[in-house]
Amino acid sequence: MKIFLDTASLKEIREAATLGVVDGITTNPSLLAKETGDPEAILVEICKTIDGPISGEVVATDAEGMVKEGRHLASLHKNIVVKVPCIAEGLKATKVLAAEGKRVNMTLIFSASQALLAAKAGARYVSPFVGRLDDISAPGMELVADIIQIFDHYDFDCEVLAASLRGPMHVVEAAKMGADIGTMPMSVFTQLLKHPLTDSGLKRFLEDWEKVKAQVAAKTQRQGS
Ligand code: E4P
Repeated sequence: MKIFLDTASLKEIREAATLGVVDGITTNPSLLAKETGDPEAILVEICKTIDGPISGEVVATDAEGMVKEGRHLASLHKNIVVKVPCIAEGLKATKVLAAEGKRVNMTLIFSASQALLAAKAGARYVSPFVGRLDDISAPGMELVADIIQIFDHYDFDCEVLAASLRGPMHVVEAAKMGADIGTMPMSVFTQLLKHPLTDSGLKRFLEDWEKVKAQVAAKTQRQGS
């Protein structure tokens, strides 16, 4: 499963990039609103930091406006993927942008039927929002499973991007289901690696190795005297 970070923070993205396991970035207007600076300049800088799909979202709500914004976003950098909300106007815009060869990430997907329409319109990615469904007591992860099941029957050139992942178990469940991508905030990404037994195990290995070094040093000293 490809790992995307769901953030517009260059600090977080630069830090995560050093680990070499981040495949792409998703942003949205709320995430960009948290940052200071020109949003387009931030997007371009993100593209230079991570050489993978970088989603930038349109804010127009009519198809014509979405297409115009989408073309502009795509012109900023080759890595930009145009994020379009899953509404009727968004489907129309996706059809146009996809026909021009632009990659569209259809976002705010909360039902399998929306994902089916997005794929039919030519979206390159569909983003089911797991956490936000969980928030309203609906099983978000079941939506990911349903979409994967549907897409398995057909030849859509569309990847399932499990979004709104709120914890490491969401990521693991998405991977077990075979989601193509999981996008997550930095806090969740960090938790993927952490395990207390790894930390205590490493501490013990290093302590034991120090004992070995001390024994070898003592033996060498005895032989030399
Ligand atoms: C995905 O592209 C969205 O930006 C994101 O995953 C939304 O997550 P949230 O529900 O935690 O805001």
